[in-house]
Amino acid sequence: MRPSTMAFAMVENYNPKQIAGRRAAEMVQSNSVVGLGTGSTVFFVLTRLAERIQEEGLVVTAVATSIDTEIKAEEMGIPLVSLDEVESIDLCIDGADEIDGEFQMIKGGGGALLREKVVASISKREVIVVGPEKVVPRLGTTFSLPVEVVPFARPLMARRIRPFGADPTLRMTEEGSPFLTDNGNEILDCHFPDGIQDPAALELALDAIPGIVESGLFINLAHAVVIGYPDGRCEVREKA
Ligand code: 5RP
Repeated sequence: MRPSTMAFAMVENYNPKQIAGRRAAEMVQSNSVVGLGTGSTVFFVLTRLAERIQEEGLVVTAVATSIDTEIKAEEMGIPLVSLDEVESIDLCIDGADEIDGEFQMIKGGGGALLREKVVASISKREVIVVGPEKVVPRLGTTFSLPVEVVPFARPLMARRIRPFGADPTLRMTEEGSPFLTDNGNEILDCHFPDGIQDPAALELALDAIPGIVESGLFINLAHAVVIGYPDGRCEVREKA
């Protein structure tokens, strides 16, 4: 391998999710209530938090946004409480499927959008951990918008979502049955061929439809984004 090629291979060797997740976990302060998001980037937040609890004696009380995160946090020894045991959350760290320049997001790739949004809504600070590919100029261009719907109304919901310019598809499991969220609902993944022009207006319009439980549009909830890069760099952007 020529030296220049070798150097290139070495600097691209990092996992952006791990870089972002570990950096965000350093933001957690002792004696605080922490919201734990869901997903493969948040996994690295959990591992670093667990290390800090062991190594530094960090004292935290955590609220999980999904059963998946609950199981992982328990296995790692992160102390958990239920949502009704806390008044508010000091810092929530979560992933995203897309985030734009105004920190508006699409979330729900892992199906945890409802609990994630509830926890974000009572968080004093919401920090998002992503790799660079999640940062987009317009939402909906690289990822379909997940919309959680009650199973009873699902075909009707698909018909009501189409006029917004979306093409909804029922999310399925690998076994071939409809994917069910932790709340027993189904998810319509809504592809917008031209992206989403006005995310805030779309969120309001979708949430007003009876039968839609929640959309994966997260508007004005994020305060900062931590972006990990394959060359090992990490960037923290604060909302203006
Ligand atoms: C789950 C989510 C996740 O935060 C989102 O899908 C990002 O996941 P990952 O970090 O695995 O890419 O919204 O509902």
